Amino acid sequence: MKDTVGAGRRTLRRFAGPVALADRLEKSKALDKPIRALAKVVREKIGPGRARDLLHGVPTGKPLHPPLATVTLGCWLSATLLDVAGAGPRAARVLLAAGVGSALPTAASGLTDWSSLHLEQQRVGFVHMLANVSALGLFSASLLARWSGHERSGRALSLAGLGVAGLGGYLGGHLAYRQAAGANHAPQVSHLVALGWHDLGRIKDLPDGRPVARRLGYIQLFVLRHGESVTVLADQCPHLAMPLHQGRLVIEDGEPCVVCTWHGSTFRLSDGSVKHGPATAPAPAFQTRVRRDGTIQVRPGLT
Ligand code: FES
Repeated sequence: MKDTVGAGRRTLRRFAGPVALADRLEKSKALDKPIRALAKVVREKIGPGRARDLLHGVPTGKPLHPPLATVTLGCWLSATLLDVAGAGPRAARVLLAAGVGSALPTAASGLTDWSSLHLEQQRVGFVHMLANVSALGLFSASLLARWSGHERSGRALSLAGLGVAGLGGYLGGHLAYRQAAGANHAPQVSHLVALGWHDLGRIKDLPDGRPVARRLGYIQLFVLRHGESVTVLADQCPHLAMPLHQGRLVIEDGEPCVVCTWHGSTFRLSDGSVKHGPATAPAPAFQTRVRRDGTIQVRPGLT
């Protein structure tokens, strides 16, 4: 019995191995210097504006990097499978070239997202990037070898590339699912707030023109009074959860917005939609009304 339990624990430890390594990577300070330097360069080179929003995926409402990475890795995996299956060389070369060609936008979008993450996420993302750059080098070398008639070497380089890309993919999964980079951090309002109107205190108790936080059941709200009306959003920034009531109020293109000061995501006060990334999901907005006695009422569901 003891042996069975011991074997079970050993098996569990083996399965926990890669996760434990990635967890340790989050805490390792060994690469912090180049990480900080690179993140600064990326933020300076790809400054706020349309190109940056496009690379984050703001127009599509979802991060752009994951679908692009799927194209790149899918091409490389398919090319290697064709090699293993012994298919003709032409199709594998086309797939390899497509993978190498798509790597540039994939890397650009990933790098842009990465530059606006927490340091623990950047540590994992940095090694993810190193692995993928190495994979790109190996697949490019494979393509060159095949073009110059060294088919066998080309296939070996592809296999090596796939192994390294697998490591990069594993760390990408850790970053996305365990560290929630790219996920929507806004609260799931429809699951946390009952339908219908809820009292939120008196309007006279709110400062005019300065956002404050108020609680509604399980969630915290961003509440902004402007004269006799009130704007209410979920307070958690959808990017990485900074309390939005600590943000900066601005007017952009004539639209009143709140800027999250952690990474610059900008949300329209009218409906919580994203004006600028890195956030790609909106801040949930609430309908509001002020009763005759001055009681503010809010109801989920404006967005
Ligand atoms: S937490 Fe990153 S922009 Fe708000």
